[in-house]
Amino acid sequence: MMLIVLHVNPLKLILLLSTLYTLSDCYDPLDPNGNFSITFDINNRLDNGYLATVTLQNYHQYRHVDKPGWKLGWTWASNEVIWSMSGAIATDRGDCSSYSGSQMPHSCKKDPIIVDISPDVTQNRSARCCRGGRLSARAIDSLSSLTSFELEVRNLDQKENSIGQAPKNVTFMAPGPGYTCSPFMVTDPSVSLDSGGVRQVPVIRTWKSICTYSSFLANKSPVCCASFSTFYNPIITPCRNCTCGGCREADKNTQSCIRPSDSLGGSNDEKNIIRCTNHMCPIRVHWHFKNNYMNQWRVKLTISNYNFNRNYSNWNVLVQHPGFNEKVTAYSFNSTKLPTLVADGVALFWGIDYFNNELLHSDKDGVGSVTTEILLEKDQNSFTLQNGWTFPRRIYFNGENCDMPLPDTFPMLPNGSYIFRPNCLAFIFSLISLLLVLLVL
Ligand SMILES: *[C@@H]1O[C@H](CO)[C@@H](O)[C@H](O)[C@H]1NC(C)=O
Ligand SMILES: *[C@@H]1O[C@H](CO)[C@@H](O)[C@H](O)[C@H]1NC(C)=O
Ligand SMILES: *[C@@H]1O[C@H](CO)[C@@H](O)[C@H](O)[C@H]1NC(C)=O
Ligand SMILES: *[C@@H]1O[C@H](CO)[C@@H](O)[C@H](O)[C@H]1NC(C)=O
Ligand SMILES: *[C@@H]1O[C@H](CO)[C@@H](O)[C@H](O)[C@H]1NC(C)=O
Ligand SMILES: *[C@@H]1O[C@H](CO)[C@@H](O)[C@H](O)[C@H]1NC(C)=O
Repeated sequence: MMLIVLHVNPLKLILLLSTLYTLSDCYDPLDPNGNFSITFDINNRLDNGYLATVTLQNYHQYRHVDKPGWKLGWTWASNEVIWSMSGAIATDRGDCSSYSGSQMPHSCKKDPIIVDISPDVTQNRSARCCRGGRLSARAIDSLSSLTSFELEVRNLDQKENSIGQAPKNVTFMAPGPGYTCSPFMVTDPSVSLDSGGVRQVPVIRTWKSICTYSSFLANKSPVCCASFSTFYNPIITPCRNCTCGGCREADKNTQSCIRPSDSLGGSNDEKNIIRCTNHMCPIRVHWHFKNNYMNQWRVKLTISNYNFNRNYSNWNVLVQHPGFNEKVTAYSFNSTKLPTLVADGVALFWGIDYFNNELLHSDKDGVGSVTTEILLEKDQNSFTLQNGWTFPRRIYFNGENCDMPLPDTFPMLPNGSYIFRPNCLAFIFSLISLLLVLLVL
Protein backbone atom coordinates (compact mmCIF):
# COMPACT_ATOMS: atom_id res chain seq x y z
CA MET A 1 0.00 0.00 0.00
CA MET A 2 2.78 2.39 1.05
CA LEU A 3 4.79 1.62 -2.09
CA ILE A 4 1.86 2.35 -4.38
CA VAL A 5 1.12 5.61 -2.63
CA LEU A 6 4.76 6.71 -2.82
CA HIS A 7 4.65 6.58 -6.61
CA VAL A 8 1.74 9.02 -6.91
CA ASN A 9 2.56 12.66 -7.42
CA PRO A 10 0.62 14.53 -4.71
CA LEU A 11 -0.31 17.38 -7.03
CA LYS A 12 -1.72 15.00 -9.60
CA LEU A 13 -3.63 13.28 -6.84
CA ILE A 14 -5.22 16.49 -5.67
CA LEU A 15 -6.08 17.36 -9.27
CA LEU A 16 -7.61 13.94 -9.79
CA LEU A 17 -9.66 14.13 -6.62
CA SER A 18 -10.93 17.61 -7.33
CA THR A 19 -11.82 16.58 -10.90
CA LEU A 20 -13.80 13.69 -9.48
CA TYR A 21 -15.60 16.11 -7.21
CA THR A 22 -16.43 18.45 -10.11
CA LEU A 23 -17.57 15.58 -12.31
CA SER A 24 -20.04 14.52 -9.65
CA ASP A 25 -21.91 17.66 -10.72
CA CYS A 26 -22.74 16.07 -14.08
CA TYR A 27 -23.72 12.73 -12.62
CA ASP A 28 -26.61 12.69 -10.19
CA PRO A 29 -26.41 9.60 -7.95
CA LEU A 30 -30.09 10.03 -7.05
CA ASP A 31 -31.13 9.80 -10.71
CA PRO A 32 -28.26 8.13 -12.57
CA ASN A 33 -30.33 7.38 -15.69
CA GLY A 34 -31.97 10.79 -16.01
CA ASN A 35 -31.92 12.11 -19.56
CA PHE A 36 -34.08 13.36 -22.42
CA SER A 37 -34.24 11.07 -25.40
CA ILE A 38 -35.12 12.32 -28.87
CA THR A 39 -36.30 9.64 -31.29
CA PHE A 40 -36.56 10.46 -34.99
CA ASP A 41 -38.62 7.75 -36.73
CA ILE A 42 -38.93 7.73 -40.52
CA ASN A 43 -42.33 6.16 -41.18
CA ASN A 44 -42.78 6.52 -44.94
CA ARG A 45 -40.69 7.33 -47.95
CA LEU A 46 -42.00 9.89 -50.40
CA ASP A 47 -40.73 10.99 -53.78
CA ASN A 48 -37.57 12.87 -52.72
CA GLY A 49 -38.72 13.04 -49.10
CA TYR A 50 -40.11 11.25 -46.11
CA LEU A 51 -42.65 11.42 -43.30
CA ALA A 52 -41.21 11.27 -39.80
CA THR A 53 -42.35 11.28 -36.19
CA VAL A 54 -40.12 12.88 -33.56
CA THR A 55 -40.70 11.83 -29.96
CA LEU A 56 -39.28 13.59 -26.91
CA GLN A 57 -39.23 11.58 -23.74
CA ASN A 58 -38.25 12.89 -20.31
CA TYR A 59 -36.52 10.10 -18.41
CA HIS A 60 -35.67 12.31 -15.43
CA GLN A 61 -37.39 11.18 -12.25
CA TYR A 62 -37.77 14.69 -10.80
CA ARG A 63 -36.78 17.24 -13.43
CA HIS A 64 -39.63 18.63 -15.50
CA VAL A 65 -39.96 21.13 -18.32
CA ASP A 66 -42.09 24.11 -17.37
CA LYS A 67 -43.30 27.24 -19.18
CA PRO A 68 -42.25 28.58 -21.67
CA GLY A 69 -41.44 25.02 -22.73
CA TRP A 70 -38.81 23.03 -24.58
CA LYS A 71 -37.00 24.11 -27.74
CA LEU A 72 -35.44 21.55 -30.06
CA GLY A 73 -32.96 22.47 -32.76
CA TRP A 74 -30.78 20.75 -35.33
CA THR A 75 -28.84 21.46 -38.54
CA TRP A 76 -29.88 19.65 -41.72
CA ALA A 77 -27.09 17.60 -43.29
CA SER A 78 -27.81 18.95 -46.81
CA ASN A 79 -30.64 21.01 -48.29
CA GLU A 80 -33.66 19.42 -46.64
CA VAL A 81 -36.72 21.56 -45.95
CA ILE A 82 -39.62 20.93 -43.58
CA TRP A 83 -42.56 20.82 -45.98
CA SER A 84 -45.20 20.55 -43.27
CA MET A 85 -45.44 19.85 -39.59
CA SER A 86 -48.12 18.88 -37.09
CA GLY A 87 -48.00 18.86 -33.31
CA ALA A 88 -45.27 21.52 -33.21
CA ILE A 89 -43.98 24.46 -35.26
CA ALA A 90 -40.66 25.78 -36.47
CA THR A 91 -40.12 29.28 -35.08
CA ASP A 92 -38.80 30.68 -38.38
CA ARG A 93 -39.82 30.04 -42.00
CA GLY A 94 -36.39 31.06 -43.23
CA ASP A 95 -35.54 31.84 -46.85
CA CYS A 96 -37.98 29.96 -49.07
CA SER A 97 -37.49 32.28 -52.06
CA SER A 98 -36.56 29.39 -54.35
CA TYR A 99 -40.07 28.01 -53.91
CA SER A 100 -43.09 29.33 -55.74
CA GLY A 101 -46.55 27.97 -56.09
CA SER A 102 -49.58 27.69 -53.94
CA GLN A 103 -47.95 25.86 -51.04
CA MET A 104 -44.74 27.06 -49.44
CA PRO A 105 -42.63 24.85 -47.19
CA HIS A 106 -43.21 25.23 -43.45
CA SER A 107 -39.53 26.06 -42.89
CA CYS A 108 -36.53 26.32 -45.19
CA LYS A 109 -34.08 27.12 -42.41
CA LYS A 110 -30.86 25.16 -42.38
CA ASP A 111 -31.01 25.09 -38.56
CA PRO A 112 -34.69 25.16 -37.55
CA ILE A 113 -35.80 25.60 -33.94
CA ILE A 114 -38.94 23.65 -33.10
CA VAL A 115 -41.36 24.45 -30.29
CA ASP A 116 -44.55 22.84 -29.04
CA ILE A 117 -48.01 24.26 -29.66
CA SER A 118 -50.49 25.10 -26.96
CA PRO A 119 -53.08 22.55 -25.79
CA ASP A 120 -56.01 24.64 -27.02
CA VAL A 121 -54.89 24.81 -30.67
CA THR A 122 -57.27 22.60 -32.65
CA GLN A 123 -55.57 22.56 -36.08
CA ASN A 124 -52.54 20.54 -37.13
CA ARG A 125 -52.39 18.43 -34.01
CA SER A 126 -50.73 15.04 -33.86
CA ALA A 127 -51.16 12.11 -31.51
CA ARG A 128 -49.59 12.77 -28.07
CA CYS A 129 -48.82 16.40 -28.85
CA CYS A 130 -49.48 19.88 -27.73
CA ARG A 131 -48.66 20.50 -24.09
CA GLY A 132 -47.40 24.03 -24.61
CA GLY A 133 -43.88 22.71 -24.26
CA ARG A 134 -44.31 21.19 -20.81
CA LEU A 135 -43.09 17.72 -19.96
CA SER A 136 -43.71 16.11 -16.56
CA ALA A 137 -41.09 14.46 -14.44
CA ARG A 138 -41.22 10.71 -14.93
CA ALA A 139 -41.75 9.71 -11.29
CA ILE A 140 -44.65 12.17 -10.98
CA ASP A 141 -46.63 11.69 -14.19
CA SER A 142 -45.03 9.30 -16.66
CA LEU A 143 -47.91 9.66 -19.17
CA SER A 144 -47.19 13.37 -19.65
CA SER A 145 -43.44 12.91 -19.69
CA LEU A 146 -43.47 12.31 -23.43
CA THR A 147 -44.62 14.25 -26.48
CA SER A 148 -44.31 13.80 -30.22
CA PHE A 149 -44.77 15.71 -33.45
CA GLU A 150 -44.81 14.81 -37.14
CA LEU A 151 -43.05 16.35 -40.09
CA GLU A 152 -42.78 15.94 -43.83
CA VAL A 153 -39.25 16.46 -45.10
CA ARG A 154 -38.48 17.18 -48.77
CA ASN A 155 -35.64 18.19 -51.02
CA LEU A 156 -33.28 15.41 -50.01
CA ASP A 157 -29.92 15.17 -51.68
CA GLN A 158 -30.77 13.50 -55.03
CA LYS A 159 -27.36 11.85 -55.48
CA GLU A 160 -28.19 8.86 -53.43
CA ASN A 161 -31.67 7.48 -53.69
CA SER A 162 -31.85 7.14 -49.95
CA ILE A 163 -33.39 8.89 -46.99
CA GLY A 164 -30.30 10.97 -46.58
CA GLN A 165 -28.35 11.66 -43.43
CA ALA A 166 -29.58 12.36 -39.94
CA PRO A 167 -29.70 16.01 -38.88
CA LYS A 168 -26.54 17.24 -37.16
CA ASN A 169 -25.86 19.34 -34.06
CA VAL A 170 -28.94 18.57 -31.99
CA THR A 171 -29.71 21.22 -29.36
CA PHE A 172 -32.24 21.09 -26.56
CA MET A 173 -33.38 23.85 -24.19
CA ALA A 174 -35.76 22.93 -21.38
CA PRO A 175 -36.35 25.90 -21.38
CA GLY A 176 -32.93 27.03 -20.14
CA PRO A 177 -29.48 25.87 -21.15
CA GLY A 178 -27.44 23.07 -19.55
CA TYR A 179 -28.24 20.20 -21.93
CA THR A 180 -25.74 18.44 -24.15
CA CYS A 181 -27.14 16.16 -26.85
CA SER A 182 -25.34 13.28 -28.51
CA PRO A 183 -25.40 13.11 -32.33
CA PHE A 184 -28.31 11.18 -33.84
CA MET A 185 -27.32 7.51 -34.02
CA VAL A 186 -29.00 4.77 -36.03
CA THR A 187 -30.73 2.39 -33.61
CA ASP A 188 -33.09 -0.56 -33.94
CA PRO A 189 -36.19 0.72 -35.73
CA SER A 190 -39.12 1.58 -33.47
CA VAL A 191 -41.92 -0.94 -33.79
CA SER A 192 -45.63 -0.22 -33.77
CA LEU A 193 -48.36 -2.79 -33.48
CA ASP A 194 -50.89 -3.21 -36.25
CA SER A 195 -54.00 -5.35 -36.92
CA GLY A 196 -55.25 -5.25 -33.37
CA GLY A 197 -51.81 -5.77 -31.89
CA VAL A 198 -50.88 -9.02 -33.66
CA ARG A 199 -48.61 -7.64 -36.39
CA GLN A 200 -45.35 -5.82 -35.67
CA VAL A 201 -44.51 -2.99 -38.04
CA PRO A 202 -41.04 -1.49 -37.75
CA VAL A 203 -40.46 1.98 -39.13
CA ILE A 204 -38.01 2.47 -42.01
CA ARG A 205 -35.27 4.01 -39.89
CA THR A 206 -34.81 5.31 -36.36
CA TRP A 207 -32.28 7.90 -35.25
CA LYS A 208 -31.82 8.60 -31.57
CA SER A 209 -30.11 11.32 -29.56
CA ILE A 210 -29.71 11.46 -25.76
CA CYS A 211 -29.54 14.83 -23.99
CA THR A 212 -28.06 15.04 -20.50
CA TYR A 213 -28.13 17.91 -18.01
CA SER A 214 -25.27 19.52 -16.13
CA SER A 215 -25.90 22.40 -13.74
CA PHE A 216 -22.23 23.24 -14.23
CA LEU A 217 -22.95 23.91 -17.92
CA ALA A 218 -26.10 25.80 -17.10
CA ASN A 219 -23.64 28.03 -15.23
CA LYS A 220 -26.03 29.58 -12.82
CA SER A 221 -25.81 30.34 -9.16
CA PRO A 222 -27.79 28.10 -6.79
CA VAL A 223 -31.53 28.77 -6.71
CA CYS A 224 -32.30 27.09 -3.45
CA CYS A 225 -31.08 26.74 0.12
CA ALA A 226 -32.12 24.72 3.15
CA SER A 227 -32.70 25.77 6.76
CA PHE A 228 -33.37 23.62 9.85
CA SER A 229 -35.05 23.88 13.23
CA THR A 230 -36.16 21.54 16.04
CA PHE A 231 -38.59 21.43 18.93
CA TYR A 232 -35.74 21.05 21.43
CA ASN A 233 -33.80 24.20 20.62
CA PRO A 234 -35.23 27.66 19.84
CA ILE A 235 -32.24 28.46 17.62
CA ILE A 236 -33.01 28.19 13.91
CA THR A 237 -30.20 27.20 11.58
CA PRO A 238 -30.68 29.63 8.70
CA CYS A 239 -29.65 29.30 5.10
CA ARG A 240 -26.02 30.25 4.67
CA ASN A 241 -25.40 33.94 3.92
CA CYS A 242 -24.90 35.02 0.30
CA THR A 243 -25.61 31.52 -0.99
CA CYS A 244 -27.36 32.29 -4.25
CA GLY A 245 -24.99 34.60 -6.08
CA GLY A 246 -24.76 37.86 -4.18
CA CYS A 247 -25.20 39.38 -0.74
CA ARG A 248 -27.88 41.70 0.53
CA GLU A 249 -26.61 45.23 0.92
CA ALA A 250 -25.95 45.61 4.62
CA ASP A 251 -27.11 49.16 5.22
CA LYS A 252 -30.13 49.27 2.92
CA ASN A 253 -33.53 48.58 4.36
CA THR A 254 -35.42 47.87 1.16
CA GLN A 255 -37.78 44.96 0.72
CA SER A 256 -36.90 43.91 -2.81
CA CYS A 257 -33.47 42.98 -4.09
CA ILE A 258 -32.32 42.27 -7.63
CA ARG A 259 -30.63 38.95 -7.89
CA PRO A 260 -27.54 39.01 -10.09
CA SER A 261 -28.90 37.74 -13.40
CA ASP A 262 -27.97 34.18 -14.21
CA SER A 263 -28.03 32.61 -17.62
CA LEU A 264 -31.57 31.39 -17.06
CA GLY A 265 -32.96 34.81 -16.28
CA GLY A 266 -31.02 36.36 -19.13
CA SER A 267 -31.18 40.11 -19.35
CA ASN A 268 -34.73 40.20 -18.05
CA ASP A 269 -34.21 41.87 -14.65
CA GLU A 270 -37.94 41.77 -13.94
CA LYS A 271 -37.60 38.04 -13.37
CA ASN A 272 -34.79 38.46 -10.87
CA ILE A 273 -36.54 40.61 -8.29
CA ILE A 274 -36.68 38.73 -5.01
CA ARG A 275 -37.45 39.52 -1.41
CA CYS A 276 -34.22 40.62 0.31
CA THR A 277 -32.77 37.97 2.61
CA ASN A 278 -29.32 37.18 3.95
CA HIS A 279 -29.13 34.14 1.68
CA MET A 280 -30.57 35.87 -1.44
CA CYS A 281 -32.05 32.61 -2.67
CA PRO A 282 -35.30 32.59 -4.63
CA ILE A 283 -36.33 29.33 -2.92
CA ARG A 284 -35.89 28.15 0.66
CA VAL A 285 -36.77 24.67 1.95
CA HIS A 286 -37.24 24.54 5.72
CA TRP A 287 -37.18 21.29 7.71
CA HIS A 288 -38.62 21.53 11.21
CA PHE A 289 -38.34 18.48 13.49
CA LYS A 290 -41.65 18.95 15.31
CA ASN A 291 -42.46 15.95 17.51
CA ASN A 292 -40.62 12.94 18.83
CA TYR A 293 -43.01 10.11 19.71
CA MET A 294 -42.28 6.63 21.00
CA ASN A 295 -42.42 4.88 17.62
CA GLN A 296 -42.72 7.78 15.22
CA TRP A 297 -41.45 11.27 14.59
CA ARG A 298 -43.01 14.25 12.85
CA VAL A 299 -41.50 16.86 10.56
CA LYS A 300 -42.92 20.04 9.08
CA LEU A 301 -41.61 20.77 5.60
CA THR A 302 -42.11 24.27 4.17
CA ILE A 303 -41.07 25.55 0.75
CA SER A 304 -40.95 29.33 0.39
CA ASN A 305 -40.79 31.30 -2.86
CA TYR A 306 -38.99 34.64 -2.43
CA ASN A 307 -39.47 35.66 -6.08
CA PHE A 308 -41.74 38.63 -6.66
CA ASN A 309 -42.37 37.72 -10.30
CA ARG A 310 -42.31 34.00 -10.60
CA ASN A 311 -44.75 31.21 -9.79
CA TYR A 312 -43.52 27.62 -9.87
CA SER A 313 -46.19 25.32 -11.29
CA ASN A 314 -45.86 21.58 -10.70
CA TRP A 315 -42.89 22.14 -8.38
CA ASN A 316 -41.25 19.16 -6.73
CA VAL A 317 -38.88 18.61 -3.80
CA LEU A 318 -36.62 15.62 -3.30
CA VAL A 319 -35.24 14.79 0.14
CA GLN A 320 -32.55 12.24 0.97
CA HIS A 321 -32.74 11.00 4.55
CA PRO A 322 -32.12 7.56 6.12
CA GLY A 323 -35.50 7.88 7.88
CA PHE A 324 -37.24 7.53 4.51
CA ASN A 325 -36.31 3.85 4.50
CA GLU A 326 -39.25 3.44 6.91
CA LYS A 327 -42.93 4.15 6.32
CA VAL A 328 -43.61 7.82 5.48
CA THR A 329 -46.92 9.72 5.42
CA ALA A 330 -47.15 13.23 3.95
CA TYR A 331 -50.40 15.00 4.81
CA SER A 332 -50.63 17.92 2.38
CA PHE A 333 -48.30 16.89 -0.46
CA ASN A 334 -48.32 14.04 -2.92
CA SER A 335 -45.30 11.79 -2.32
CA THR A 336 -43.47 8.70 -3.47
CA LYS A 337 -40.20 6.96 -2.64
CA LEU A 338 -37.60 6.58 -5.34
CA PRO A 339 -35.27 3.63 -5.83
CA THR A 340 -31.65 4.89 -5.84
CA LEU A 341 -28.07 3.78 -5.55
CA VAL A 342 -27.59 5.48 -2.17
CA ALA A 343 -28.27 3.66 1.10
CA ASP A 344 -30.47 6.44 2.51
CA GLY A 345 -34.11 6.59 1.59
CA VAL A 346 -35.11 9.18 -0.99
CA ALA A 347 -38.60 10.67 -1.06
CA LEU A 348 -40.10 12.92 -3.72
CA PHE A 349 -42.82 15.42 -2.78
CA TRP A 350 -45.05 17.47 -5.07
CA GLY A 351 -48.24 19.48 -4.85
CA ILE A 352 -51.80 18.24 -4.90
CA ASP A 353 -53.77 19.38 -7.96
CA TYR A 354 -55.92 22.51 -7.43
CA PHE A 355 -54.63 22.75 -3.84
CA ASN A 356 -50.91 23.48 -3.68
CA ASN A 357 -49.30 22.37 -6.96
CA GLU A 358 -48.66 26.04 -7.77
CA LEU A 359 -46.00 27.70 -5.57
CA LEU A 360 -47.07 31.34 -5.78
CA HIS A 361 -44.78 34.36 -5.88
CA SER A 362 -44.20 36.65 -2.91
CA ASP A 363 -45.71 40.10 -2.67
CA LYS A 364 -45.52 42.94 -0.18
CA ASP A 365 -47.98 41.18 2.12
CA GLY A 366 -46.16 37.90 2.41
CA VAL A 367 -44.02 35.09 1.13
CA GLY A 368 -45.50 32.49 -1.22
CA SER A 369 -45.20 29.09 0.38
CA VAL A 370 -46.50 25.54 0.55
CA THR A 371 -46.22 23.31 3.60
CA THR A 372 -46.97 19.83 4.87
CA GLU A 373 -46.45 17.68 7.91
CA ILE A 374 -44.71 14.36 7.46
CA LEU A 375 -44.98 11.41 9.85
CA LEU A 376 -42.12 8.91 9.82
CA GLU A 377 -41.93 5.50 11.47
CA LYS A 378 -38.87 4.95 13.63
CA ASP A 379 -36.24 2.33 13.13
CA GLN A 380 -35.11 2.10 16.75
CA ASN A 381 -31.64 0.94 15.71
CA SER A 382 -30.80 3.97 13.60
CA PHE A 383 -32.99 6.79 14.95
CA THR A 384 -31.01 9.25 17.08
CA LEU A 385 -31.13 12.88 18.12
CA GLN A 386 -27.33 12.97 17.99
CA ASN A 387 -25.11 14.34 15.27
CA GLY A 388 -27.85 16.04 13.29
CA TRP A 389 -29.16 12.64 12.18
CA THR A 390 -32.72 14.01 11.97
CA PHE A 391 -31.78 16.52 9.25
CA PRO A 392 -31.81 15.76 5.52
CA ARG A 393 -28.58 14.78 3.79
CA ARG A 394 -29.55 16.36 0.48
CA ILE A 395 -32.48 18.39 -0.88
CA TYR A 396 -33.37 19.21 -4.48
CA PHE A 397 -35.95 21.72 -5.66
CA ASN A 398 -37.14 21.02 -9.25
CA GLY A 399 -34.01 18.94 -9.74
CA GLU A 400 -31.62 21.68 -8.58
CA ASN A 401 -29.38 20.98 -5.60
CA CYS A 402 -30.18 23.12 -2.53
CA ASP A 403 -27.31 24.57 -0.52
CA MET A 404 -27.20 22.94 2.94
CA PRO A 405 -26.15 24.50 6.27
CA LEU A 406 -22.86 23.28 7.73
CA PRO A 407 -23.16 20.67 10.52
CA ASP A 408 -21.48 22.94 13.10
CA THR A 409 -24.45 25.32 12.85
CA PHE A 410 -27.13 22.65 13.47
CA PRO A 411 -29.39 23.21 16.51
CA MET A 412 -27.81 21.45 19.49
CA LEU A 413 -29.41 19.08 21.94
CA PRO A 414 -30.13 20.80 25.30
CA ASN A 415 -27.59 18.63 27.15
CA GLY A 416 -24.78 19.70 24.91
CA SER A 417 -22.32 17.33 23.36
CA TYR A 418 -22.20 17.46 19.63
CA ILE A 419 -20.15 15.34 17.28
CA PHE A 420 -19.12 16.67 13.90
CA ARG A 421 -20.58 14.77 10.96
CA PRO A 422 -18.21 15.15 8.01
CA ASN A 423 -19.75 16.07 4.68
CA CYS A 424 -18.48 14.90 1.33
CA LEU A 425 -16.02 17.71 0.76
CA ALA A 426 -14.62 17.34 4.27
CA PHE A 427 -14.25 13.64 3.57
CA ILE A 428 -12.27 14.27 0.40
CA PHE A 429 -10.05 16.77 2.21
CA SER A 430 -9.38 14.35 5.03
CA LEU A 431 -8.54 11.71 2.43
CA ILE A 432 -6.10 14.09 0.76
CA SER A 433 -4.46 14.99 4.06
CA LEU A 434 -4.21 11.34 5.00
CA LEU A 435 -2.44 10.56 1.73
CA LEU A 436 -0.16 13.58 2.13
CA VAL A 437 0.77 12.40 5.59
CA LEU A 438 1.54 8.97 4.16
CA LEU A 439 3.71 10.56 1.48
CA VAL A 440 5.70 12.56 4.00
CA LEU A 441 6.36 9.53 6.17
C1 LIG B 1 -31.27 7.43 -20.78
O1 LIG B 1 -32.36 7.02 -19.97
C2 LIG B 1 -32.79 5.69 -20.21
C3 LIG B 1 -34.00 5.44 -19.32
O2 LIG B 1 -33.70 5.70 -17.98
C4 LIG B 1 -31.67 4.72 -19.90
O3 LIG B 1 -32.08 3.41 -20.19
C5 LIG B 1 -30.46 5.07 -20.74
O4 LIG B 1 -29.37 4.25 -20.36
C6 LIG B 1 -30.08 6.54 -20.53
N1 LIG B 1 -29.01 6.84 -21.45
C7 LIG B 1 -27.90 7.47 -21.04
C8 LIG B 1 -26.88 7.73 -22.08
O5 LIG B 1 -27.75 7.83 -19.89
C1 LIG C 1 -51.59 23.60 -40.70
O1 LIG C 1 -50.64 23.03 -41.58
C2 LIG C 1 -50.75 23.47 -42.92
C3 LIG C 1 -49.74 22.71 -43.76
O2 LIG C 1 -48.48 22.71 -43.13
C4 LIG C 1 -50.51 24.98 -42.99
O3 LIG C 1 -50.68 25.45 -44.30
C5 LIG C 1 -51.50 25.68 -42.06
O4 LIG C 1 -51.19 27.05 -42.00
C6 LIG C 1 -51.42 25.11 -40.67
N1 LIG C 1 -52.42 25.71 -39.83
C7 LIG C 1 -52.12 26.26 -38.66
C8 LIG C 1 -53.24 26.84 -37.89
O5 LIG C 1 -50.98 26.26 -38.20
C1 LIG D 1 -22.00 21.80 -35.61
O1 LIG D 1 -21.48 22.64 -34.58
C2 LIG D 1 -20.06 22.80 -34.67
C3 LIG D 1 -19.64 23.59 -33.46
O2 LIG D 1 -20.55 24.58 -33.14
C4 LIG D 1 -19.72 23.50 -35.97
O3 LIG D 1 -18.32 23.64 -36.05
C5 LIG D 1 -20.23 22.65 -37.13
O4 LIG D 1 -19.98 23.35 -38.35
C6 LIG D 1 -21.70 22.41 -36.98
N1 LIG D 1 -22.13 21.50 -38.01
C7 LIG D 1 -23.07 21.82 -38.87
C8 LIG D 1 -23.43 20.77 -39.89
O5 LIG D 1 -23.64 22.91 -38.82
C1 LIG E 1 -25.18 36.63 8.04
O1 LIG E 1 -25.56 37.99 7.82
C2 LIG E 1 -26.19 38.61 8.94
C3 LIG E 1 -26.66 39.99 8.50
O2 LIG E 1 -25.69 40.64 7.73
C4 LIG E 1 -25.22 38.65 10.10
O3 LIG E 1 -25.87 39.23 11.23
C5 LIG E 1 -24.77 37.23 10.44
O4 LIG E 1 -23.80 37.25 11.44
C6 LIG E 1 -24.19 36.55 9.20
N1 LIG E 1 -23.94 35.15 9.51
C7 LIG E 1 -22.79 34.58 9.27
C8 LIG E 1 -22.67 33.15 9.64
O5 LIG E 1 -21.85 35.19 8.76
C1 LIG F 1 -49.04 33.60 -10.35
O1 LIG F 1 -50.28 32.96 -10.07
C2 LIG F 1 -51.30 33.87 -9.66
C3 LIG F 1 -52.50 33.05 -9.26
O2 LIG F 1 -52.77 32.05 -10.19
C4 LIG F 1 -51.60 34.83 -10.81
O3 LIG F 1 -52.58 35.74 -10.40
C5 LIG F 1 -50.32 35.57 -11.17
O4 LIG F 1 -50.55 36.39 -12.30
C6 LIG F 1 -49.19 34.61 -11.49
N1 LIG F 1 -47.97 35.36 -11.65
C7 LIG F 1 -47.08 35.12 -12.60
C8 LIG F 1 -45.88 36.00 -12.63
O5 LIG F 1 -47.25 34.24 -13.41
C1 LIG G 1 -50.77 12.77 -6.93
O1 LIG G 1 -50.12 13.10 -8.15
C2 LIG G 1 -50.64 12.46 -9.29
C3 LIG G 1 -49.80 12.85 -10.47
O2 LIG G 1 -49.59 14.24 -10.51
C4 LIG G 1 -52.11 12.80 -9.47
O3 LIG G 1 -52.63 12.14 -10.57
C5 LIG G 1 -52.86 12.43 -8.22
O4 LIG G 1 -54.22 12.79 -8.34
C6 LIG G 1 -52.24 13.10 -7.03
N1 LIG G 1 -52.91 12.72 -5.80
C7 LIG G 1 -53.54 13.61 -5.07
C8 LIG G 1 -54.13 13.12 -3.80
O5 LIG G 1 -53.61 14.76 -5.43
